[in-house]
Amino acid sequence: KLLIIDFGSQVTQLIARRLREISVYCEIHPFNAVDEAFLDEFAPRAVILSGGPASVPDEGSPKPPAKVFELGVPVLGICYGQQVMMHMLGGEVVRTQGSAEFGRAYLEPGDDRLELFNGWFQGHREQVWMSHGDHVSRLAPGFAPYATSPGAPFAVVADPSRRFFATQFHPEVHHTPNGPKLFENFCALAGFTGDWTMQAYRDQAVQAIRDQVGDARVLCALSGGVDSSVTAALIHEAIGDQLTCVFVDHGLLRKNEAQEVVEMFRDHMNLSVIHADESDLFLTALEGVSDPEQKRKTIGKLFIDVFEKHAHAIGGADFLAQGTLYPDVIESVSFSGGPSVTIKSHHNVGGLPEKMGMKLVEPLRELFKDEVRALGRELGLPAHFIGRHPFPGPGLAIRCPGEITRAKLEILREADAIFIDQIRKHGLYDEIWQAFVAILPVRTVGVMGDGRTYDYACALRAVTSVDGMTADYYPFAHDFLGETATRIINNVRGINRVTYDITSKPPGTIEWE
Ligand code: XMP
Repeated sequence: KLLIIDFGSQVTQLIARRLREISVYCEIHPFNAVDEAFLDEFAPRAVILSGGPASVPDEGSPKPPAKVFELGVPVLGICYGQQVMMHMLGGEVVRTQGSAEFGRAYLEPGDDRLELFNGWFQGHREQVWMSHGDHVSRLAPGFAPYATSPGAPFAVVADPSRRFFATQFHPEVHHTPNGPKLFENFCALAGFTGDWTMQAYRDQAVQAIRDQVGDARVLCALSGGVDSSVTAALIHEAIGDQLTCVFVDHGLLRKNEAQEVVEMFRDHMNLSVIHADESDLFLTALEGVSDPEQKRKTIGKLFIDVFEKHAHAIGGADFLAQGTLYPDVIESVSFSGGPSVTIKSHHNVGGLPEKMGMKLVEPLRELFKDEVRALGRELGLPAHFIGRHPFPGPGLAIRCPGEITRAKLEILREADAIFIDQIRKHGLYDEIWQAFVAILPVRTVGVMGDGRTYDYACALRAVTSVDGMTADYYPFAHDFLGETATRIINNVRGINRVTYDITSKPPGTIEWE
């Protein structure tokens, strides 16, 4: 296995992701937890030293044990990792005066005899991503530069005889497009064959949950979304009936959704789910509310009350399970105050753990969305369930601009089900990030048969996106749109006009409220 020693970079997890992508097993451990005894026990086949915010010339800056360099295994230092490696092996690092280097840089074609570069350069410059303040001013004995960039004479340095490599840039980030190749080469020369799987991740996660939880009880707020579902399935595998799931049904779910989710968990996963049908409570509280923020706040607050009530009813629990993903972890560190923060405080049961004195179990914290899906498949969740589009915590409330009534929700559910069915039938579901119908607070005149109608207008919304942060509308064929409009108008009483929303995000948002 490969050991990543973390010096606190924002992107250390991406190293792990790059390695998992090539089926190499790795573990991230913070530098202060790695001592000689740890290294003996772990017996890494290779070590990666991550980047980090510290400055090597500073007194007391974090360092790995010197033993890392005596194990006889390949070592890759990245950014701070490069500097600490040079410093410890006899080179010199200085603070860059005034001209820290951040962002895109281009490596001049390097020395392709270096194994690390297999498949790189091919005659052209390589784009890499730099982010550093200090730099190496003198190489350690045995090292030579193998690639340079205009601002970095030591962009890549190596001592191939000892299999020590170090880059000043970050090969793990997206903006170093060929970075994965570099990790692949590093792992190959360390003897990894890429035989690690999601099955192995699952076993490891199960063990970690058992270690954390012991024989205590865990509560999970199941939303029916992929993240909370995979969280629940994984924890259930680890601790069985010590887990209780509460599915809060706020009456704002899609057609048949509550039933499908609860049945799937009870029957397919054999997991005990409390179906808390609190729709009366939510819909009553929402009567007369048409301001979007007030809707969100009303639902958010009630959700916590309801969840707390059910938690007490089963005698409480020490732990609360949460489907936090790695992007949530990065985001909450680096963009606090941004618009996504409001979104997040909603869909996880924010504030609840402190209020109830619960500890968190977050077994997906290291994973990205596509990895969560892979884990879900591994755990046996049905494929159609794992591929489901995201659905917002406040549910249909934010797809029903203006006042929410049961009658409107009913109409919305029917129209939405037809739209989704159309998309599935045409094989477009997986190309689309999210698709839904919004019922508009407008009634318009129409003619059906020989009669006049005066019914609601609705809007279809379908977008493509990678992460929900930006989005574009989906370019349906006109025939598809026409067919869908006809099906909705003919089958849903209460709608006599269908429009298609062609707003991208920004300037729009995906949801209507
Ligand atoms: P917007 O509408 O902000 O949505 O472009 C971006 C993504 O976030 C989802 N969304 C939410 N998810 N609780 C959630 O769990 C919320 O309050 C919430 N609001 C929006 C939305 O469905 C889209 O995927």
